[in-house]
Amino acid sequence: MILVTGGAGFIGSNFVLDWLAQTDEPVLNLDKLTYAGNLENLASVQGDARHVFVQGDIGDSALLDSLLAQHQPRAVLNFAAESHVDRSIHGPEDFIQTNVVGTLRLLQSVRAYWQVRDEARRAQFRFLHVSTDEVYGSLSATDAAFTESNKLEPNSPYSASKAASDHLVRAWLHTYGLPVLTTNCSNNYGPLHFPEKLIPLMIVNALAGKPLPIYGDGLQVRDWLYVKDHCSAIRRVLQAGRVGEIYNVGGWNEKPNIEIVNTVCALLDELRPRADGGSYRSQISYVQDRPGHDRRYAIDASKIERELGWRPAETFESGIRKTVQWYLDNQAWVTHVQSGAYREWVQTNYAQRQ
Ligand code: NAD
Ligand code: DAU
Repeated sequence: MILVTGGAGFIGSNFVLDWLAQTDEPVLNLDKLTYAGNLENLASVQGDARHVFVQGDIGDSALLDSLLAQHQPRAVLNFAAESHVDRSIHGPEDFIQTNVVGTLRLLQSVRAYWQVRDEARRAQFRFLHVSTDEVYGSLSATDAAFTESNKLEPNSPYSASKAASDHLVRAWLHTYGLPVLTTNCSNNYGPLHFPEKLIPLMIVNALAGKPLPIYGDGLQVRDWLYVKDHCSAIRRVLQAGRVGEIYNVGGWNEKPNIEIVNTVCALLDELRPRADGGSYRSQISYVQDRPGHDRRYAIDASKIERELGWRPAETFESGIRKTVQWYLDNQAWVTHVQSGAYREWVQTNYAQRQ
């Protein structure tokens, strides 16, 4: 089997669902169930013997040691993280605990487990670390897209914590020989995306008649990838990636934020017109910028295409339409995630914005 950490979050749960739809190999899913972890994401595999869910922390060494000894996975895929930049600005501590200390503990337990396997199993074993393009820092409008040899120049507490974890993974290969792989991916979007991130927040706010907050001038550029394409890239890297290599993953799809929001509004105007006949665009509201806001990310994904034959299957036009439709069809999911801790967070951090 494989061990997936953070498999109840946005990308992790999409990965687990896709994995079980494509193979019979079981998944051990270790997730702390923070505000971002949602077992409802995995409702369709509840009761499926191939999916073993354990609530726990990647920083809990004793738990990790016993899970590894009991289940003997052939690979560990580390999705678990604190992932939201705005939260990292308000409270960096959790990011250091999970993304840095948690990754360290996971690496230590995995190393201890891996070292005592027989030679054939050691050679086949993989530790795949899921990371982000944000570790490379910010680009100007004319800079070339990030390649795997770019320096790590993180600018937010979130990206600094992810860069630290990337360095740890690299060190565990070079020092201990652990067979690691790292993927650095651009902005994902799609089903099951927690509505604190740009695209789901805009859909949910638009439908609720609330303002659509655009940070600063709205001309920051991100590269957007449909989440199922990220999942297929990770599967491909696990299957055929060269040990110790980094693979950048992206959608070849750079867009300024304001264009993304206008596209979401246009789709909602078509699929769920406002009762008053107006456009959702009239809800757009420019607000104070994010501190230290990175201007542009762009991923050069030619290495993964050249070496592993991976390219995204979805275009932005098809992916964003599916995404908006998914939110329209899954209003109960939205209502559920908007309860409890999430509501408090929105109250404290979003309600005061001018
Ligand atoms: P998410 O916040 O939606 O989910 C994170 C999951 O990790 C949650 O289920 C949470 O409960 C779990 N978790 C948090 N701390 C944990 C801990 N200490 N132990 C065990 N589980 C814990 O995040 P996501 O957007 O799905 O991102 C998944 C991974 O992909 C992260 O490592 C992130 O850095 C990376 N990534 C995300 C994007 C993106 O656009 N969302 C892009 C590139 C890379
Ligand atoms: O690039 C990959 C990264 O993408 C991942 O590593 C992170 O885990 C993920 O959260 C995401 O980070 P971003 O900061 O790019 O995503 P977010 O959805 O928070 O913001 C996208 C852009 O939209 C960014 O420029 C900030 C802006 N924004 C965001 C929100 C939530 C707004 O203008 N208004 C908003 O309300």
